[in-house]
Amino acid sequence: MNTATRRAYGAGVKFYDALSGEPVYRIGRVTGVRMLRLRAGDTVLDLGCGTGLNFALLTAAVGPTGRLIGLDRSGAMLDIARRRIERRGWSNVSLVHADATDFSWTDLEVPQVDAVISTYAMSVFNDPHAAWANVRAVLRPGGRACIVDMQVPTGAATVLAPVARLTCAAGGSDIDAHPWTLLEADAHDVRRRSLRGGHIQVVAGTIG
Ligand SMILES: C[S@@+](CC[C@H](N)C(=O)[O-])C[C@H]1O[C@@H](n2cnc3c(N)ncnc32)[C@H](O)[C@@H]1O
Repeated sequence: MNTATRRAYGAGVKFYDALSGEPVYRIGRVTGVRMLRLRAGDTVLDLGCGTGLNFALLTAAVGPTGRLIGLDRSGAMLDIARRRIERRGWSNVSLVHADATDFSWTDLEVPQVDAVISTYAMSVFNDPHAAWANVRAVLRPGGRACIVDMQVPTGAATVLAPVARLTCAAGGSDIDAHPWTLLEADAHDVRRRSLRGGHIQVVAGTIG
């Protein structure tokens, strides 16, 4: 994450939810959580959770007996996520202030998780490979993962490529990172959805 991006997820966070383009990007969250095939009682990690825009979908999917752990390296983003948790009264959601490229199960305070989701975050990480290695290390054998991220639009939507590039650059995201390929290389039942003219890629699968 470069200095400008660090700033974007520091001082500017109070505007994150308003500027995150939910009319365009929410469909990726909804599709990703559905494709993760969570079960009641599952423990799920939201990697680079930001302000917790996925939390309502994830807590509904794992139910009151499940557990959600949100991890992010921005304390300012986590402050907003914490307020969301308090407001909604979720007692089964915890937050971890850590770097996705440098964490382990001791940070999560659970030996393993059943599922991991990362939405619009891995393309922001400075080292998605290191983050994915950590995901593999905390995911139980047979656990599920889902990566939702962005690329340059395809087909007829290619005309929107400059807008997509600008939007991603403003959020510190590398539009050419294609982090879902890490999951595709390791999962044995890869499922894919392409949304918004190919701009949003949702890839899920079972690992190990
Ligand atoms: C575009 S936001 C996405 C947030 C959230 N996943 C969402 O869908 O709204 C990217 C997030 O990644 C976090 N981030 C960037 N680099 C990180 C890293 N190395 N470790 C953990 N979080 C990181 C930022 O702090 C920010 O909250």
